[in-house]
Amino acid sequence: MAFGFFKKSEKKSETPVNAGPHYYDLKVKNIIQETKDAISIVFEQPANKISYKSGQFLTLIAPVAGKEVRRAYSLNSSPFTDQDLSVTIKRVDLGLMSNWLPDNLKAGDTVKVMEPMGHFTTEYKSENKRHVIMFAGGSGITPMMSLIKSTLTQEPESICSLIYCNRDIDSIIFKDQLEKLQTTHAGRLHVIHVLDNAPMNWQGYSGLLSHEMLTKLFERIPDWGLEKTTYLMCGPEGMMKNVETLLAALNIPKEKIFKESFVQGTIDKGVRKEVTVTTGEKKEREVTIRYDGQEYKFMVAPDHTILETALNQGIDLPYSCQSGLCTACRGKALSGQVKLDEEEGLSQSERAEGYVLTCVGHPMTDDVVIEIG
Ligand code: FES
Repeated sequence: MAFGFFKKSEKKSETPVNAGPHYYDLKVKNIIQETKDAISIVFEQPANKISYKSGQFLTLIAPVAGKEVRRAYSLNSSPFTDQDLSVTIKRVDLGLMSNWLPDNLKAGDTVKVMEPMGHFTTEYKSENKRHVIMFAGGSGITPMMSLIKSTLTQEPESICSLIYCNRDIDSIIFKDQLEKLQTTHAGRLHVIHVLDNAPMNWQGYSGLLSHEMLTKLFERIPDWGLEKTTYLMCGPEGMMKNVETLLAALNIPKEKIFKESFVQGTIDKGVRKEVTVTTGEKKEREVTIRYDGQEYKFMVAPDHTILETALNQGIDLPYSCQSGLCTACRGKALSGQVKLDEEEGLSQSERAEGYVLTCVGHPMTDDVVIEIG
């Protein structure tokens, strides 16, 4: 979701030449072993530069185990400070792509990617004066790195505080880079590490974040007051739920909190939970999609999502996780009612504005029109 004043750019054309998502074949420039189980893949910017916003993600597409697999990975690079595009991948137990990439990819290879997407971003203005407090867990640091670099360089009067939770010292991704940034931007970046398993001589914090610990942590970072402070979080679901509860206990309003859900694409689709209450009946219904200057009409069966129906018919709509988390498939319902199996990826205000996710969406009325883009 977007925080700050970000407005998604309109991308429309009267007579599209290539309707559909935009794909690129990117050359791997370098692979960096960040920790024992995490790598960063640095892609060369093509001659026709790919523009992106800090906090967005790239969807990598690769043939794994005989089928095309897509996974979204947040960019750790900043469009303001880095020449190349870079994503970080941490191995996940039984993760198809997260194991295939470090095992197979090497410098010089080419990877197909979808254009950068995602709404966990903001607009930078040199006159902004804000305090961005970030909670990251494990590889949830990735979008934060991009946002930290951009905030520190684009907003001279803004500051960042990072509360970064990891299993142990060896699993801290970007430890050195963060130290360097703290030195370069003295007094404007505060990093506090919290470890599950701390070594004997550890001077910092350890264990699960608790109300007590968070109160102490907040005493160590500047207090700019609620109005000037924004709270961001990205990490494992358990950590984010815990942080949300703790912030609520500190009376931080929900509108000040923005989160990026992990996008692993491994959610068990058998346990969808239906969350949008509507009065409509689930039956085959016609859906109209407007995307990239084209209009598509098709019937969606009750046990199929809008996205899978479109893909089955060869309509090339944007998507990544297919789990209702990454928002790559987000569109705005201009009319009709859509029931979502999962709406974790959307903020309250996005839902109120009529945004839906086609990968987990079912039409509940016959007049559903969704605009994507
Ligand atoms: S494809 Fe990720 S939310 Fe729909």
